[in-house]
Amino acid sequence: MKVIVTGGAGFIGGNFIHYMLENYKDYEICCFDFLTYAGNVETLAPIKDNKNFSLVVGDIADRDAVYSLFEEQKPDVVVNFAAESHVDRSILDPGIFLRTNVIGTGVLLDACRKYGIDRFHQVSTDEVYGDLPIDRPDLFFTETTPLHASSPYSASKASADLLVQAYYRTYNLPVTLSRCSNNYGPYHFPEKMIPLMIQRAKNNQSLPVYGDGSNVRDWLYVKDHCEAIDLILHKGKVGEVYNVGGHNERSNIEVVKQILRHLGKDESLIEYVADRPGHDRRYAIDPTKITTELGWTPKTGFDEGIAQTINWYLDNEDWTDHILSGDYQRYYEENYKNRAQINK
Ligand code: NAD
Ligand code: DAU
Repeated sequence: MKVIVTGGAGFIGGNFIHYMLENYKDYEICCFDFLTYAGNVETLAPIKDNKNFSLVVGDIADRDAVYSLFEEQKPDVVVNFAAESHVDRSILDPGIFLRTNVIGTGVLLDACRKYGIDRFHQVSTDEVYGDLPIDRPDLFFTETTPLHASSPYSASKASADLLVQAYYRTYNLPVTLSRCSNNYGPYHFPEKMIPLMIQRAKNNQSLPVYGDGSNVRDWLYVKDHCEAIDLILHKGKVGEVYNVGGHNERSNIEVVKQILRHLGKDESLIEYVADRPGHDRRYAIDPTKITTELGWTPKTGFDEGIAQTINWYLDNEDWTDHILSGDYQRYYEENYKNRAQINK
């Protein structure tokens, strides 16, 4: 079996490649990644000498590059993780999100039609459903919740989902989609909340909490997401969407305080800053379909997963240090410069 994993030098794609090579010794995995600021070859360093692994650098929105890839690799399966994935960056500059997330997905779908594949899997997100009220803990996103995206990022992911479903209906392309909640774990880029807070708390820097910190996310350890995609690829029904989430809802401030406690740091590091425009209040996944139809359940609870994650960052400082370069500093200044501290 030949699998192309797009975006495999990123956080979840990288974890997925590690997981697949460990669990399927006879599968060949080709990572196709443009190595943007979010792609990091060091994430792939532990498997770079595996004979079943290869890396091709290229852009999913570049039709010629993608068609050459398919001609050379002749994949059976394509799993599309490649995306611009950070909501705050999409607020600062939406254009690249449309190019990569929408046009790029369209080019991959065209290549799948042209060359033929057994499965195209689109890694999507719960953010396509918009948000839920904080005071209605009885409400969850199901696969039939209407798409109602809030940010340029989630709108681009929702557009890609619609394209994937259109290629299934119109051309009978064998597709599946997963919509997962917030992931955390090793190799997570430190612009996202959990690794950003770990990194800054470790260095006794202020922790910028948006708004009043009451927004809720439904956290899932990244390996549980990888297992869910594995199950969908092998047992999922073509044309179907599967929601993935482990009922691990936490407010942002709870998560930040838990990180501070684990690191033995003081809560005075917390700085409430101006809110994210259009900030989604609460995400919460109903995973009944993937649980009952495919037998998926998450294995790592939040307390265990966050401790493992913090320890991973403490043990892998080189990985983070190489990322925190000039470009990262420029982004940090840009995103946080107009967010004056709000005293609570
Ligand atoms: P990430 O930003 O860490 O990684 C994205 C990867 O895609 C990087 O390696 C980058 O180099 C690559 N890439 C970007 N543009 C590309 C292009 N034009 N061509 C080829 N490669 C390109 O993202 P992530 O957090 O690992 O998310 C992966 C996927 O999972 C995304 O599609 C995202 O929407 C989805 N998702 C993420 C989460 C989460 O919590 N992080 C949750 C649910 C779904
Ligand atoms: O739900 C899945 C989504 O989760 C994925 O589709 C996205 O790719 C992924 O980035 C993530 O989106 P979020 O916007 O939820 O993640 P982020 O880590 O950026 O923010 C988590 C919460 O923390 C959110 O409510 C905003 C808040 N936050 C974030 C940052 C970066 C802060 O309070 N301060 C910060 O500095």
